[in-house]
Amino acid sequence: MGSHANLLVGCLWILLSFVSGLFLGLNFHKEDWLGGYGSFRRRLYRLAHISFFGLGTVNCLYYLIAERIPFGVVSAQIASWGFIVGAVTMPICCYAMAHNRKLTGIFAVPVLSLVTAGIVTLVEVSAL
Ligand code: HEM
Repeated sequence: MGSHANLLVGCLWILLSFVSGLFLGLNFHKEDWLGGYGSFRRRLYRLAHISFFGLGTVNCLYYLIAERIPFGVVSAQIASWGFIVGAVTMPICCYAMAHNRKLTGIFAVPVLSLVTAGIVTLVEVSAL
C-alpha cells in the first residue's frame, strides 16, 4: 500500500512550487533582486522552487508505485520516510544555504535520505 503521507506531502509540495514561483514572479523584474539572476542566493531560491515541484512529484509517484507493487514492510517504511524527509529538508537547505554559505553540509540530509529511498525502491521494483 502506498503511504497516504507521501501523497499528502506530494500534493502540498506541488502547490508550494506554485506559491514559491509566485514569490519569485513578484520580484524577478527587479534587476538586482537577491544579487541578480546569476547570484548564488538567487540560484538557491530557484533550486528551492524547483525542488518543491520535483520532490512533490516524486512523492506522488512513489505513492502510485507502492499502490501497485507489494513492498516489504521495512522497505516501505524506509522508502516512504526517505522520500518525505528528502522533500521536506531539500527546500529548507536551499533557503538556509542561500543565507549562509557555510551550511553546505546540511545537504547531506536530503541527499542521503533520497538516495536511500531511491535504492530501496529500485530493489523492490527489480524484485518483481
Ligand atoms: C504558478 C506556477 C509557477 C510560477 C509563478 C513560476 C515562476 C517562476 C519564476 C518567476 C522564475 C524565475 C526565477 C528567477 O528569475 O530567478 C521561475 C524559474 C523556474 N521555474 Fe517556475 N514557476 C511556476 C511553476 C513551475 C513549475 C511547475 C516548474 C517545474 C516543472 C517550474 C520550474 C522552474 C525552473 C526550472 C526555473 C528556472 C529556469 C531558469 O533558471 O532558466 N516552475 N519560475
